[in-house]
Amino acid sequence: MIEATRSEQPAAATELVQVTPSGDMLGAEITGIDVAAGFDETALMTVRDAVLRHSLVVLRDQNLSPAEQLAFTNRMGEVRPAPPPADGAHITSVPDYPQLLVVSNIVEDGRPVGISDAGLLWHSDTCFQAKPELFVTLYALEIPVRDGVALGDTRYVSTPGAYDALDAKTKERIDKLRVVQSYIYHMDKLERLGILTRSQLTEEQRRNTVELSHPLVRTHPITGRKLLYINEAFSDRIEGMPEEESRELLDELLVHITREDFMTRHHWQAGDLLIWDNCATQHLATFDYGTLRRRLHRCGTVGPIPV
Ligand code: SIN
Repeated sequence: MIEATRSEQPAAATELVQVTPSGDMLGAEITGIDVAAGFDETALMTVRDAVLRHSLVVLRDQNLSPAEQLAFTNRMGEVRPAPPPADGAHITSVPDYPQLLVVSNIVEDGRPVGISDAGLLWHSDTCFQAKPELFVTLYALEIPVRDGVALGDTRYVSTPGAYDALDAKTKERIDKLRVVQSYIYHMDKLERLGILTRSQLTEEQRRNTVELSHPLVRTHPITGRKLLYINEAFSDRIEGMPEEESRELLDELLVHITREDFMTRHHWQAGDLLIWDNCATQHLATFDYGTLRRRLHRCGTVGPIPV
């Protein structure tokens, strides 16, 4: 299926914009937009609509400076300022662009240029914050290739799709529950699993890290769809529920969310600009490329308090 929009101007920058769904529950490719060349409001509306409809879209063959990625993300929504160091996150940003995080395994002059362990576990970005990001852009500068095959895919699942597939009894049981989303839980879990590669939180960082809860069943702020808002990386416990029962229920739902039929897999190419709805998805990176170079820049927009 192809959804097409003809933009009125400028003709050179925006030809026929086409949205081609991936065929999976989520994901689509948009062609006909060269972000760096500029595009009009009609094309922007097409992109926003496609992201909301398909939760994840890719624009291939882009050539973006950090300023251009930042400006594009700003048109999707107000860009989230650089996170304060007090949240305990290990942040490495593009020089002069604190809003753009570097996701990379590259080490230059003995120093990592970016965060190398993002996406080890299924997660929705910044869900441990009061106002988690709504849209995220991730731009691929260097993608590892071995024997002609691109590596380091990212998998995404549809959280409204996972909610819709639950039976009525489960929906009723989880309807009013709230879940503690915790950065401390995340760091401790990575350590427990033996995959923590950044420094563990200091006692002071632990004391300064605010733990908060969000609804387990969240309503999307724009589409109004209900969705499952828990993930294996950050979701610690259900508020007010005995620990064992809470763990059992969360684990059961976490297995459900990552079913293949709710999933799509993004095969990266350098020049890909990926945009996702961070409320309607969660994602997992694939670490199959060893020391082959991989570098992406990410930027997110401010979202509302989850309800
Ligand atoms: C992330 O989890 O935010 C990064 C995903 C990736 O590196 O593929």
